[in-house]
Amino acid sequence: MAHDTPVNTTLIGIIGGTGLTELEGLEITGEQVIETPWGMPSAPLVSGKLGGVPVVFLARHGNPHRYPPHQVNYRANIWALKHAGATAIVGVNAVGGIHAAMGPAQIVIPDQLIDYTWGRGHTFFESVVDAELEHVTHIDFTHPYTETLRSALQAAAQDEGVSCVDFGVYAATQGPRLETAAEVARMERDGCHLIGMTGMPEAALAAELEIDYACLALVVNWAAGKSDHIITMDEIQAAIDEGMSGVRAMLARFIAS
Ligand code: HPA
Repeated sequence: MAHDTPVNTTLIGIIGGTGLTELEGLEITGEQVIETPWGMPSAPLVSGKLGGVPVVFLARHGNPHRYPPHQVNYRANIWALKHAGATAIVGVNAVGGIHAAMGPAQIVIPDQLIDYTWGRGHTFFESVVDAELEHVTHIDFTHPYTETLRSALQAAAQDEGVSCVDFGVYAATQGPRLETAAEVARMERDGCHLIGMTGMPEAALAAELEIDYACLALVVNWAAGKSDHIITMDEIQAAIDEGMSGVRAMLARFIAS
């Protein structure tokens, strides 16, 4: 039997970070306040269409911005997206750049990560909060980001003429303070290329619930000790203002494709 419309089994979830508390151009069709066994997500889930394609959006820090990186309820956020039907998630993250190619306003799609966070609710396999998840599973996390999503994001960048670095080891730090120069130097020796505070445990939680996941990072400053000046909020805001239009263009193209 012929179908006029292709069957779409993927629902994309977008988690917006600092500088992206709303998805411009989203035709909002509904908002859902979802209570999860892990508590409340950062904000209501916003469902809508971008270029006619259904998408669900969540502001990681709340809208308005109220949860610092170490107090985001990552478990509730990922759980809520799963229960809203998301089969793939793109997490948008503001980061500091370590690698020479990752200066302010540069967009990066990392391919690996190292987790330096601590004390966060980082797994669903903790207690029998939900009978569906009563068995501990040691998920494979060799490749923390889903390759098909990464490739689709790169293609979207290319189509939109947005400059995008397609590699990088993301160092997930605890925050909310920025790092010392020595900490950044150590992370560089560890092989890290960019640093952010929200990439973990988000990526691992998505993997635990078998949701495809990729990170779309916007560099908003040189990491500590990588420039000749200290990091200021003005500099960070300027890079967000400069780079976020590229992120939005990539997301719109990515979802349309
Ligand atoms: N370090 C950690 N997280 C960040 C940074 C940084 O320099 N910039 C934006 N998020």
